[in-house]
Order: sequence, then structure tokens, then C-alpha cells
Amino acid sequence: MTARQWPLGLGLALGLAALASGLFSGDDTIEQWRLAARWTARVGFPLFIVAYSASAVGRLWRNDVTRAVWRDRRWWGLGFAAAHTVHLGALVTFLQVSGETRPPLVWFVAGTGYALMFVMVATSNDAAMRALGTNWRRLHALGIHWLWFVFLASYAGRIMQPGTMSIGLSGTITALAALTLRIAVRFQGRTRRPAAA
Ligand code: HEM
Repeated sequence: MTARQWPLGLGLALGLAALASGLFSGDDTIEQWRLAARWTARVGFPLFIVAYSASAVGRLWRNDVTRAVWRDRRWWGLGFAAAHTVHLGALVTFLQVSGETRPPLVWFVAGTGYALMFVMVATSNDAAMRALGTNWRRLHALGIHWLWFVFLASYAGRIMQPGTMSIGLSGTITALAALTLRIAVRFQGRTRRPAAA
């Protein structure tokens, strides 16, 4: 692993630490795996937000840190994918031990999120970028916004549930703020372009 790839190691370490914390905390097997599923999603979210907003933040506030994160956003995305793969393992085990399931719409939307995430992982390299051309951009834009939507829906759904209002609110506000940043940068780019020409 090179020095620039450390966010990938960070994502894996955070995912595994969240999994272990859940398994050591709950009172019974079901609760342990529920906590593992919850906390693995929770540690992946900040990594996702860093990858999602890296270019917008880098354009708006230029300094050494934002430039490095912007340059290495691929590794932040892969770090998120590592943590979120641990979430997949935890949630599958939770559903198995608890006998719970989710409505078909949730399976479709969240399952498609995972499918897109793994396609993005497989194409997060220069050779795939060259081979796919403009479709690479389209694929990654679709994938990252699909995942953004699943996070938003997951956290927004927690706002009105007992005991999860604060995590629901903070996740919802963070997701919306990250989208706002991206829109602001896009708008700024559009309004600046004619002047540059
Ligand atoms: C792209 C896919 C997914 C994303 C972005 C995602 C995101 C999340 C988020 C944000 C949480 C809440 C974490 C918190 O409380 O801070 C969560 C928890 C959870 N997710 Fe996922 N998830 C995904 C896929 C799935 C799928 C496909 C299932 C199963 C059908 C699932 C089952 C669970 C379970 C069981 C929990 C713990 C629920 C609890 O807190 O009681 N997730 N996920």
C-alpha cells in the first residue's frame, strides 16, 4: 500500500472496529449483530461524505489538505467501500439470526446501491476510466448519488423514530449539506465559465 492509499486501510480498520464493538456490546446475539450493522454503516458514512464532497470542497477552499483529499478521493471512496462491505456482512448476518426482513422496495433500492458500489470499486482505476470514456463519469455520478440517496433515506427515516432522532437529524443535515456544496460549486462553475471564455 502506498502513502496515498491510507484511506482504504482506514475504512477497513473502522469497519472491522465497528463490527467488533457491536459484537462485544449487545446483550444477546440478535442485539450484537444489530449494533454491528448499525455501527458499520455509521463509520462508513463520514468516509462516504469525504469522497462525495472532496472535489466541491477542494474547489471552494483551496489549501494543502483539501487539495490532497481531492487528489486522493478515489482512495477515500475505496475506504468507504471497504467499511460498507463490512456493513453488508453484518446486516446479512443480522437478518439471518433475527429472522427479520425488509420490504421489497428497500431490498431493491439498497441492493442496487451495493451493486453500483461494487461496479464503482471494479472501475476505480485509470484503465477502466480510459476504456469507459464519458460513460465512466455517468456511471460514477449515478452510483455516488444513488448511495447518497440511500444514506439520506436511512437517516431521514430515523428522525421520527423513538431514540434515533439526533442521529437521524445529523445524518440528514450532513447529507443535504454535502449535496448543497456540490450544487453551489456547479452553479459557480456555470456562472464563471462565460467570463473565462
Ligand atoms: C447502499 C446500501 C446501504 C446504505 C447506504 C445503508 C445505510 C445505513 C445507515 C445509514 C444505517 C443507520 C446507521 C446509524 O444508525 O447511524 C444502516 C443501518 C442498518 N442497515 Fe443499512 N444501508 C444499506 C444497505 C442495507 C441493506 C440492503 C439492508 C438489508 C436489507 C440493510 C440493513 C441495515 C440494518 C439491519 C441496519 C441496523 C438497523 C438498526 O439500527 O437497528 N442495509 N444502514
